[in-house]
Amino acid sequence: MPTSTIRSIEALRQALATERASGRSIALVPTMGALHAGHLALVAAAREQADVVVVSIFVNPTQFGDKLDLEAYPRTLDHDLEKLDAYEVGYVFAPSTEEIYPNGKTEITVQAGMTASRFEGRSRPGHFDGVLTVVSKLLNIVEPDFACFGEKDAQQLHLVRRLVADLDFATEIVPVATERDSDGLALSSRNARIDPARREHALAIPRALVAASRSADLGVEPMLAAAQGVMQSDTKVKLDYLAAVDPDTFLPVDENHSGAVRVLIAGTVDGVRLIDNTLVRIP
Ligand code: PAF
Repeated sequence: MPTSTIRSIEALRQALATERASGRSIALVPTMGALHAGHLALVAAAREQADVVVVSIFVNPTQFGDKLDLEAYPRTLDHDLEKLDAYEVGYVFAPSTEEIYPNGKTEITVQAGMTASRFEGRSRPGHFDGVLTVVSKLLNIVEPDFACFGEKDAQQLHLVRRLVADLDFATEIVPVATERDSDGLALSSRNARIDPARREHALAIPRALVAASRSADLGVEPMLAAAQGVMQSDTKVKLDYLAAVDPDTFLPVDENHSGAVRVLIAGTVDGVRLIDNTLVRIP
């Protein structure tokens, strides 16, 4: 199926109404563009779930606290479309900011709640309100049967699941495993901003996660200490947070916890903020 690029909400709704009327299921892959292999894994997962895949490409201003960060965000639509060529994507939805926010921003917004004030939300106040507001809009525009989100953004994935459950969206959220480069670094649009000579420092993050996995048998505290040790061994990576959370609630686990735990790390290398996580089991 050739990809059609659509700019307007109305045109997309009409096209998808026709697909639905023909009995075809729809999967959405929401992105902000600058597509890499991690996004393409989301597209491949969406392709497995549904007959028609919609990839949205929209750099959402309301999730950026810092205007400079928003301006610096890469916009590479032509390259993105080329990358999507190899996948059977039905529609690319690439609206303008005015199409999504005709009044500059919405008067009504989604409040992401308590869980959103921790970890990423603490470093980026208001970020998840912006994410959940635009995700709500995209779900209402596309009305997909499925929507695919990457596990790398574990807190975002958790909050999107809460959004869909709490506000009764009829979309099934499909989690997709993190894609990594051969050196272990989780794929992210931000990786391009790391000076290649400094990349080695960024690798402390996946290495700390490996150390955590290897020490999980010893319990929560030794596991976190092992990860902390790796992070401290490289002074060029600045740790923002290292935490062990319950994957269902995203609340920090206590030291006697047993069962599944998601270990989260955020840090900065050369001013580039990186996040990563892994799922472990504490006996
Ligand atoms: O993960 C992202 O790229 C964005 O947060 C999303 C989900 C597309 C919303 O703008």
